[in-house]
Amino acid sequence: MNLTLKIWRQKDANDKGKIVEYKVTDISEHMSFLEMMDVLNEQLVNSSDEPIAFDHDCREGICGMCSMYINGQAHGPDGGVTTCQLHMRSFKDGDTIYIEPFRANAFPVIKDLVVDRSAFDRIQHAGGYISVNTSGNTQDANSIPIAKDIADEAMDAATCIGCGACVATCKNSSAMLFVSAKVSQYALLPQGQVEATDRVMNMVAQMDAEGFGNCTNTGACEVECPKGISLENIARMNREYMKATSKG
Ligand code: SF4
Ligand code: FES
Repeated sequence: MNLTLKIWRQKDANDKGKIVEYKVTDISEHMSFLEMMDVLNEQLVNSSDEPIAFDHDCREGICGMCSMYINGQAHGPDGGVTTCQLHMRSFKDGDTIYIEPFRANAFPVIKDLVVDRSAFDRIQHAGGYISVNTSGNTQDANSIPIAKDIADEAMDAATCIGCGACVATCKNSSAMLFVSAKVSQYALLPQGQVEATDRVMNMVAQMDAEGFGNCTNTGACEVECPKGISLENIARMNREYMKATSKG
């Protein structure tokens, strides 16, 4: 298929940036979206133009790096997939596709489609660690009984890949879905109880310090999350936070 691409180009964080139009031809419907971007970049390199900077790593929906806003949707039109898992069969010959970075004040653009998501790393660092008894009497984690439904809920929360689609989609640029997934994966398990109070207080404080907006329960984050992280996690984080503040 032949496509017109309108792509955000921005030299660096200080550049104003603009949409630039490109054409690609003979794109196979079996290509992934990132492979289509590779074809364009090869074209640009061959004509001595600057290739488009974009983030990627695993290319199989695990690392959360491929942050592209495609035709006004984080990770494009398909549900439950990251940009690297999106295939060109989701588009039609002759389509015009708009490609922009994930936008939020807390995710400044570094270059073209690459944004700085280190705010997420700092929130996770603020959450810290879990205490493990290393006295020689350590209990094997697998021998601690955990109800199946609770283990499943914790596992579901732990599938968050930190891609930032929730922030890019939210009209307030709120990071509540991401932070609540990280809080929940520990809050649900016995191993997470020792530091539970500090964890939720510190992660929420760091989230606010990074400049993410507040949650107004729109729910767009849940719809666009490639891992189906549920809004239930936000409710759980709010309960954890209230519990923590009432302990003083
Ligand atoms: S909650 Fe979903 S959209 Fe947000 S960072 Fe995690 S995986 Fe990405
Ligand atoms: S490149 Fe790793 S999730 Fe897309």
